[in-house]
Amino acid sequence: MEKLRVEGGKKLSGKVRVGGAKNAALPALVASLMTDEPLHLSNVPDVRDVATICRLLEHLGVGVERKPGGEIITNVDHLTSCEAPYDLVKTMRASFLVLGPLLARTGQARVSLPGGCAIGARPVDRHLSALARLGADLRVEHGYVVAEADRLRGAEILFDVPTVGGTENCLMAATFAEGTTVIHNAAREPEVEDLANLLISMGADIEGAGTDTIIIHGVDSLDGAEHSVIPDRIEAGTYVVAGALLGAPLEVTHCHPPHFEAVLDKVSEAGVELTVGESSIRVTAPESLQSTDMKTQPHPGFPTDMQAQYMVLMTQATGSSIIAETIFENRFMHVPELSRMGADISIDGHTAVVRGPSPLSGAKVMATDLRASASLVLAGLVASGPTIIDRLYHLDRGYEGLASKLSSAGADVERFSD
Ligand code: EPZ
Repeated sequence: MEKLRVEGGKKLSGKVRVGGAKNAALPALVASLMTDEPLHLSNVPDVRDVATICRLLEHLGVGVERKPGGEIITNVDHLTSCEAPYDLVKTMRASFLVLGPLLARTGQARVSLPGGCAIGARPVDRHLSALARLGADLRVEHGYVVAEADRLRGAEILFDVPTVGGTENCLMAATFAEGTTVIHNAAREPEVEDLANLLISMGADIEGAGTDTIIIHGVDSLDGAEHSVIPDRIEAGTYVVAGALLGAPLEVTHCHPPHFEAVLDKVSEAGVELTVGESSIRVTAPESLQSTDMKTQPHPGFPTDMQAQYMVLMTQATGSSIIAETIFENRFMHVPELSRMGADISIDGHTAVVRGPSPLSGAKVMATDLRASASLVLAGLVASGPTIIDRLYHLDRGYEGLASKLSSAGADVERFSD
């Protein structure tokens, strides 16, 4: 079992390079189902979730060629299955994104319900209601969604609450629907916009991606394309927080600052000096941090995927910070572990109150989900004494080479097997 050992207190300087966005790469790979021509994707991060979606695509009959340096070429001569099995979907919820494309491309799909995960129940009711509006015949049996449609028909879709995956599933299904589809209250995340840009480069007719209203005019087929995945705004934000804690200064490169303005604004508000460039951010840790309240919101608000990392920053800020998690119902599982390291955090429902500054001390801790594990690494970087982080497979789902990137910036981080 691999673990991470972090010896805290080391200043961070030099550069950390941000990779491609996991949450853009996954839907981009799924879009390969919608063409029988090669799809050339670049800047794809080498993380576990990408490996998982590639396994699922190969199960469906997609040829997946992974080249060094983050390039993946997919080929679909013919699909050999329309079924996404439970043992694959349960390991990664994003697998559910194959439902829309399979249905649109073949007229049928049998996709396992993803089930819940550590951060919440994460139902897919909005995905299903959108596909039903597009004319799909859906039923749930034995834990699977069975979907059929001779030809999907354009419709007006309204999401009562924005859903990233639901918008992406609907976007791909509507691409082949007859007529025009309008998605109201669509998710505005950059990863949704990146998927739309990929589909447009393949020949789709889509307007308004990145806004809350997306219009799709159905087409009959899509061509192949070449596409570079956008930088990972959450990975970038994680390193910005590392710099806010220990930057002397730390330069975060190959990122796209406009994609995570809410994070940069909040970190600046806490007193951190940021120099924002075209595709990089220089971060200098201040003498003292100012406690600053935060509330997670759908994009362009503060992303829930940065909540745990921001909480660590607030443990080192002077005063009390109120952190409200409005997206997921159980996304404070990093709190007990941070408390064991000396953080002063109290939880009341979906709100956490962080009092600081609290000197953190290294400890043996356990990762529970992807972003919680990133927060434990950040805590280890400022803690006195060693922090040993277990269950690294959570971290490996979404961070490529985190230990080596931090070490190259001066951190004392070592990955080892016990
Ligand atoms: C995407 O998940 C991301 N994953 C998540 O990142 C991210 O936290 C989330 O969007 C919110 O930004 C990928 O893109 C692969 P949602 P998704 O549908 O699409 C509820 C990470 O760490 N909901 O926008 O599953 C849902 O339970 C991951 O990289 C329904 O109730 O999120 C949640 O409370 C974690 N019914 C809220 O909406 C539905 O049908 C937002 O979920 C769909 C969602």
